[in-house]
Amino acid sequence: MNKSYLITGANRGIGLALTKIIIKKGERVIALCRKLEEAGELLKISNTQSNLNVFKADVTKEDELIEISKSIDNIDFLICNAGIMGPRGGMNDKSANYENISEVLMTNVAGPFFTIKSFIGKLRESKNPKIAIISSRMGTQLHNGSDAYFYRASKAAVNNIMVSFSNELDQFNVPITSFHPGWVQTDMGGSHASLSPEESANSLFEQFQKLGEENTGKFYNYDGSEISF
Ligand SMILES: NC(=O)c1ccc[n+]([C@@H]2O[C@H](COP(=O)([O-])OP(=O)(O)OC[C@H]3O[C@@H](n4cnc5c(N)ncnc54)[C@H](OP(=O)(O)O)[C@@H]3O)[C@@H](O)[C@H]2O)c1
Repeated sequence: MNKSYLITGANRGIGLALTKIIIKKGERVIALCRKLEEAGELLKISNTQSNLNVFKADVTKEDELIEISKSIDNIDFLICNAGIMGPRGGMNDKSANYENISEVLMTNVAGPFFTIKSFIGKLRESKNPKIAIISSRMGTQLHNGSDAYFYRASKAAVNNIMVSFSNELDQFNVPITSFHPGWVQTDMGGSHASLSPEESANSLFEQFQKLGEENTGKFYNYDGSEISF
């Protein structure tokens, strides 16, 4: 039977590349994006591919996620991919204000929390449920960076949240892991990044297939090597 994947932030970048790869394999994708008017490519694919369904959802809006969960069947694999960079500079970056800091933390930390909470019921209906959070190596505590303070902090926080979920979801046999997707040529990663979105997504998809109970609570690179955080 075909597996069903739900992906947040699926209208561009890594989320779109993952969506395309997964539907090409004949699996079902429920693709979430916060603005349907900016989901042209996704909507075009969904016109010809019955295994792709597109829904509008901002991951910072729990009510939108809950509404979608009421209208779909079970999910086998939940991928929390949506994310933003926010202020990129050092301590004197003027854009590091209340509003922008809140947006990074709400999107990258509360976003996966709301997403998992909203869809856990649908995952528990699956025989082999799994959750992956697309985090970042920039969130590890041993680093020499002096930039993107709140992006780094958000990815450190979401890895911590992943561990809490792994402890709470253990009783339901739902493994959860986080992944660094590599440095990827997207709007966020920039054109000089080392991997194309397709290379990153292909590799992530390969790793997703290997996930089991033994991986829960851990953080992995896109090539499958474990990262300490
Ligand atoms: N690219 C890299 O090198 C790299 C490295 C490490 C980790 N990552 C992580 O990989 C993930 C995907 O990044 P990317 O490179 O593909 O970035 P991207 O090209 O900037 O795409 C980000 C996606 O997230 C969506 N998004 C942002 N805020 C959202 C919200 N509140 N609700 C729903 N969707 C939202 C965006 O939607 P809109 O189009 O509506 O803005 C877009 O679809 C992120 O979590 C990022 O932190 C990326």
